[in-house]
Amino acid sequence: MADTDLPPAVRCRSVVKIYGSGEAEVTALQGVDLDVALGELMMLVGPSGCGKTTLISVMAGILDQTSGECRVFGEDMLHLSARAKLAFRARNIGFVFQAYNLLPTLTAAENVSIPLLINGMNRTDAVKQAAALLGQVGLGARAKSLPATLSGGQQQRVAIARAIIHNPRLVVCDEPTSALDHETGHKVMGLLKQIAVREDRALVIVTHDARIFQFADRIAQMDDGSIVRVVDSPASLN
Ligand SMILES: Nc1ncnc2c1ncn2[C@@H]1O[C@H](COP(=O)(O)OP(=O)(O)OP(=O)(O)O)[C@@H](O)[C@H]1O
Ligand SMILES: [Mg+2]
Repeated sequence: MADTDLPPAVRCRSVVKIYGSGEAEVTALQGVDLDVALGELMMLVGPSGCGKTTLISVMAGILDQTSGECRVFGEDMLHLSARAKLAFRARNIGFVFQAYNLLPTLTAAENVSIPLLINGMNRTDAVKQAAALLGQVGLGARAKSLPATLSGGQQQRVAIARAIIHNPRLVVCDEPTSALDHETGHKVMGLLKQIAVREDRALVIVTHDARIFQFADRIAQMDDGSIVRVVDSPASLN
C-alpha cells in the first residue's frame, strides 16, 4: 500500500463534547475538525478553558465525545468494546496528563513500567527498562523514589517517561514542559521528538510554552471549543 493510502495519525471530524446536563451543561468542543499527519509534531495552543485537554482526551480515548468522529490510525475507539479499546490504547497511545497522575505508592521506575506491564512484559524487565529511560531524562538516581519526594519538574519527567516507554505510535502530552527549566525542557522535547516523531507515528502537545514552539511542525490554535487556525510557524500566530 502506498503511503498516501494510509490514514492520518489522527482525524477529528465535527467533534462535539458537552459536559454535564441542564443548567450545568458546558460545551467544551463545538465541532472540531483536525488532522494530525503521520510523522508530524502538532502543537495545540489557546486560552485556559478553550477545550485543549478535552480535545486531546478524546484523541487518546480517555474521554468519549458527545458527537462527531475521531479516528486514530484509522481506528474509531468510540465503537470498540471496553477490552478492545484498552488493548488499542495500551499498544498505540502514550499520554502525559496535565497533573502528571503518577501513582503515589509506586516508585518512579514502577510508575514508568506500567505500560510495559499492561503489554505483558515481566516485572523485573519492565522496571529495569523503566530505570534506564529515567536515566535518559536525567532521573537515573531517583528511580526508586516515590513521587511525593520528587520536585514538580522531576514528576513531570517521570510522567513523560511513562508515556513513551512502550514506543506508542501516538504520544499526547498536556503541557509537558510547564514545570521544567529551559535546558531541561529542550532536552525532554529532543527525547520526545526522537521517540515519537517517525514516519508511522505522531506527537500532539498542548502547550503555553513559547520556548518550545520551534519544535512544532504545525501549531493549531483553539478558542472557545473550536480550532480557529492551523499555522506552519509560530511567527504566524501573531
Ligand atoms: N469534567 C468536567 N465537567 C464539566 N466541565 C468540564 C469538565 N472538564 C472540563 N470542563 C469545562 O470544559 C471547558 C474546556 O476545559 P478544558 O479542560 O478542555 O480546557 P483547557 O483548554 O485544557 O484549559 P487549561 O489551559 O486551563 O488547561 C472548560 O469550560 C471547563 O470548565
Ligand atoms: Mg488543560
